[in-house]
Amino acid sequence: MSKIGILEKEVANLIAAGEVIERPAAVVKELVENSIDAGATHIDVAFVGNGLDLIEIRDNGVGMTREEALLALHRHATSKIKSAADLTAIRSLGFRGEALTSIAAVARLKILTAPADAVAGTLIKVEGGGGPLVETCGAPAGTHVTVRDLFYNTPARKKYLKRPRTEASHIVEAVTRLALSHPGVSFNLTRDQRPVFTTTGRGELADVIATIFGREIWEELLTLKIEDEAVDISGYIGRPSLTRSNRTLQYFIVNNRYVKNPTLLGGLESGYHGLLMTNRYPVAFLNFRLDPGEIDVNVHPTKLEVRFSREGDIRRALHHGVADTLGRHNLVPGVRPKFSSGPGPSPSKALTVPMPAMGTDARWGERVREDSLGTFSAPPAPISPGGGESFIGGWSGKPGGWKT
Ligand SMILES: Nc1ncnc2c1ncn2[C@@H]1O[C@H](COP(=O)(O)OP(=O)(O)OP(=O)(O)O)[C@@H](O)[C@H]1O
Ligand SMILES: [Mg+2]
Repeated sequence: MSKIGILEKEVANLIAAGEVIERPAAVVKELVENSIDAGATHIDVAFVGNGLDLIEIRDNGVGMTREEALLALHRHATSKIKSAADLTAIRSLGFRGEALTSIAAVARLKILTAPADAVAGTLIKVEGGGGPLVETCGAPAGTHVTVRDLFYNTPARKKYLKRPRTEASHIVEAVTRLALSHPGVSFNLTRDQRPVFTTTGRGELADVIATIFGREIWEELLTLKIEDEAVDISGYIGRPSLTRSNRTLQYFIVNNRYVKNPTLLGGLESGYHGLLMTNRYPVAFLNFRLDPGEIDVNVHPTKLEVRFSREGDIRRALHHGVADTLGRHNLVPGVRPKFSSGPGPSPSKALTVPMPAMGTDARWGERVREDSLGTFSAPPAPISPGGGESFIGGWSGKPGGWKT
């Protein structure tokens, strides 16, 4: 064996980036999370093709001074936590202080940023972990990040990417998750300069669901609300007649963070006991609110997984909440009251957005759906505690729909 040595910073950053920036969607997720943490109420997300050539995120958040922006590019530089104690009750989406460094290590990164009261803004360009170029220039309040040529210096990573439309669907899914977990933020997503969806930012989960998934899904949902001593749960679950062949339409949002968690999906699915066909999975859009001190979010590099200290209580609360909701509506598979007279959510009250046409997936419009005609299949939906591929994907609502 050769002699032991400490890696150059650039190499270490490249290795660390491998964990956090797995694919173009990860860049989008990290940058949008930063915008949300910066208090943005409006976020534009634009990408070209599969996201490798260009991703742009523009927000109206607090922005950064020149010094802050330069500091932000260093590993472990964060404004979100200060001490080990802060790690025990995390309230922001980010806290590791590594996303921007990781993106800069594997792409050409440009940050244009200005705080609201600044006379001028700052433009920073950095490539492949090299030193940054800094200029002072005019900029609106907020931050505009441009990421070009992702993985240009890590060809191995590029090789493992999927087809362009699959990568694009991961990006759309990433923004969907963020929009569902932040109904108070208006998201405007475009691909190749064509709109994918725009959310209102009015603070209603119902608005976001209807905008992104359309009336067809919305009309099949039931309102769920539980105030339990361990957790407050609110949102919507699908009637037993609305099922999928996988779990892609199960959204669990814990303190405004989209997560994958076997306890939550266990509680959801056991609540449907006896009402679902084999290999069919319910649809859910559920918010969980609990004391941040009761959750560990520092267990996964992309924070997709969390651990609950009161796992059993949360599972039980969800199970009973789902079973009670279904029981209250007296739901038996195949026999369901018509929406207009039925006990579902009251869209007349909650829905204030123009509805996409029936059956249209608002995330794509027809063009991309046509691209994926014929790709529909019904793969098994294994529980993947590692947050594996089987969870991630897009619309698989019907034959001819798109999925990954
Ligand atoms: N859009 C933005 N607006 C304002 N400040 C930002 C923005 N993006 C990043 N920052 C600042 O840069 C810092 C570093 O961002 P980075 O994403 O690298 O780390 P983080 O968000 O703190 O943690 P994590 O690595 O978990 O995402 C942030 O803590 C924040 O202070
Ligand atoms: Mg971050």
